[in-house]
Amino acid sequence: MLLEVKNLNTYYGSSHVLQDISFTVGEGELVALLGRNGMGKSTTLKTIMGLVKPQSGRVIFEGKEISGFPPYKTARAGIGYVPEERRIFPGLSVLDNMLLGVKDGKIGDHGDSNVWTVDRFFNHFPKLRERVNQQGRFLSGGEQQMLSIGRSLMGNPKLLLVDEPTEGLAPIMVQEVAKVLGQINKAGVSILLVEHNLKVALSLANRVYLMGKAHIGYEGTVEELRNNPEVRTKYLEV
Ligand SMILES: Nc1ncnc2c1ncn2[C@@H]1O[C@H](COP(=O)(O)OP(=O)(O)OP(=O)(O)O)[C@@H](O)[C@H]1O
Ligand SMILES: [Mg+2]
Repeated sequence: MLLEVKNLNTYYGSSHVLQDISFTVGEGELVALLGRNGMGKSTTLKTIMGLVKPQSGRVIFEGKEISGFPPYKTARAGIGYVPEERRIFPGLSVLDNMLLGVKDGKIGDHGDSNVWTVDRFFNHFPKLRERVNQQGRFLSGGEQQMLSIGRSLMGNPKLLLVDEPTEGLAPIMVQEVAKVLGQINKAGVSILLVEHNLKVALSLANRVYLMGKAHIGYEGTVEELRNNPEVRTKYLEV
């Protein structure tokens, strides 16, 4: 198993926002973590990344315990993170934003086609190549989201944690972001995706976990969820 999350318990002050959260992401999988607002999806990603410390529980990545790692060490271990609030640098060029994600000065691909480079990512979303010298501030919301995703790939993660990538985007960009995430996954990067757009999530995912308040209430394949309207009503529909 690529990622194993076991019995995570996380608090914000006295509020117990993750209660015994356990799930897995397999090698090459795209797993969706879905649920209504405030259930704890973002906190789950932040806890895996080490941005929030759990009170108990374990995070195991490629068979190694990474619980308690600070974010930079989690990233070094091979986990990329695309936060909800796309943190691009508005005053830096598209290229410089991308290069900030490069780890250990590894910019070229050294002939290895499995390595992500700026150029390789631009092949998936050529619009960024056209704007490579422009400041991040001039990009549309969707382009900024792509830049944020692209930058996270520069560290060559085995697993990407992606939080609400289509939120607030125009419908055409929603499709574009979904397409690129699918391509990245097909290229071998496993993805744990938090997404409000059920259609997008189900079109991309292999498996799905649904969160109720602070806990995981349902686990299944996309097919199982499609055939289970009761579960969708309970955890997803408003
Ligand atoms: N920094 C914080 N301090 C205190 N409480 C927080 C903090 N961040 C989130 N919370 C609370 O923790 C709970 C889980 O929040 P979280 O952001 O993980 O939910 P979510 O499922 O990502 O929701 P959304 O779909 O709105 O993004 C919520 O009740 C939220 O109000
Ligand atoms: Mg969230």
